[in-house]
Amino acid sequence: MTVVGIDKMGFYTPGMYVDMAELATARGEDPNKYLIGIGQSKQAVIPPTQDVVTMAANAAEQILTPALKAEIGMVLFGTESGIDNSKATAVYLAHLLGLPQNTRAIELKQACYGATAGLQLAADYVRVHPQAKVLVIGADIARYGLRTAGEVTQGGGAVAMLVTADPTILALDTISSYHTEDVMDFWRPTYRTEALVDGKYSTNVYLDFFKTVWTGYQQQTQRTIADFAAFAFHMPFTKMGRKGLRQILPEATPEQQTQLTTAFEASQADNRNVGNLYTGSLYLSFLSLLRHGQLAANSRIGFFSYGSGAEGEFFSGVLQPNFRDGFVEEQLAQQLANRRRVSVAEYEQIYAAQLSNDGRDVQLAVGEETATYYLAGRQHEQRQYRKQ
Ligand code: CAA
Repeated sequence: MTVVGIDKMGFYTPGMYVDMAELATARGEDPNKYLIGIGQSKQAVIPPTQDVVTMAANAAEQILTPALKAEIGMVLFGTESGIDNSKATAVYLAHLLGLPQNTRAIELKQACYGATAGLQLAADYVRVHPQAKVLVIGADIARYGLRTAGEVTQGGGAVAMLVTADPTILALDTISSYHTEDVMDFWRPTYRTEALVDGKYSTNVYLDFFKTVWTGYQQQTQRTIADFAAFAFHMPFTKMGRKGLRQILPEATPEQQTQLTTAFEASQADNRNVGNLYTGSLYLSFLSLLRHGQLAANSRIGFFSYGSGAEGEFFSGVLQPNFRDGFVEEQLAQQLANRRRVSVAEYEQIYAAQLSNDGRDVQLAVGEETATYYLAGRQHEQRQYRKQ
């Protein structure tokens, strides 16, 4: 059978962050609660000039040459913070990137699980059409509200993945284990811009779903923890992934426990400095593992995807020999290093300045925007996207 998986990966997050120790102090909390208890050091601050479409375009632009763009036959855009209840973000994105018109462009929603749905659907499509190239996006802005318990787990950004045959980064295994239950742990009715969440409950459901799909995967494949070099977790905050790993570590030998824990530290490094990007978080964690880990080619990696509401999936893949050629390390490192730290007061002001929901014409201040794609405002109830 054709080997199919992730060929290239790009990541974009805007150029500003708020320091979590400073935010903790402003909220009257011990900084160690945020830094250790939650496990977050910096949180991406999303200016009104960036939304999920522009962030996805900025992530995709990193990996798509003009020749590759001309070959994309499908765009699957996972998001729970889309900008239109009818028209797919994928259609805006395909236009912005200049993709061919003989492409399919669809949006997928299931909280933080949307990008995994996209990845698996793309892989199955390429298995049937081995020449096809599919662009899969996971992009979100995580908003719970100022001074809420969830505020410390906000963030935002986009991951772009190119799914092809004979991939450069990861060959996906065909068997995976998934589970759906109607659970009210986190949801966002159409009239709200901020999520509703039953926080503690959501963390318990996450761990229960992980147990269920990990057990199901092992039963289907006869593999055990000994077959894995690392695990990547959906990471709403890094402590959540750490709790997931702790749940299965006793199944490993002491030596492998050390190896898996070292790999976990690599997988949380970038998420710790960006925050939650909902459906992109698992894939940022995977990218972080690739960037900061010491993984050998042909290692098997396990992935736990979780989208509240709820859908969970455990799947796996094998790292390919030239996996480092599948992303642009220097660009990723510079992007994170060059961000500007904003004060808590500035973060609060930016948080409140997101595009209003009243449909009025707006012209945004775009002076500080350095990203290739950005939002300039709204006219006649249409978002005005620009490329520089
Ligand atoms: N030093 C070190 N640790 C400290 C500390 C200190 N001074 N003070 C507190 N802590 C620790 C606590 O012991 C606790 O650790 P454990 O969980 O290991 O016990 C941790 O800090 C958090 O403390 P609290 O439980 O008191 O925190 P909280 O009540 O403020 O809420 C939260 C935490 C529930 C995660 C909240 O931020 C939230 O609701 N977040 C949004 C929901 C979420 O992310 N859920 C994740 C699962 S759902 C999902 O994954 C989908 C998705 O993306 C949303």
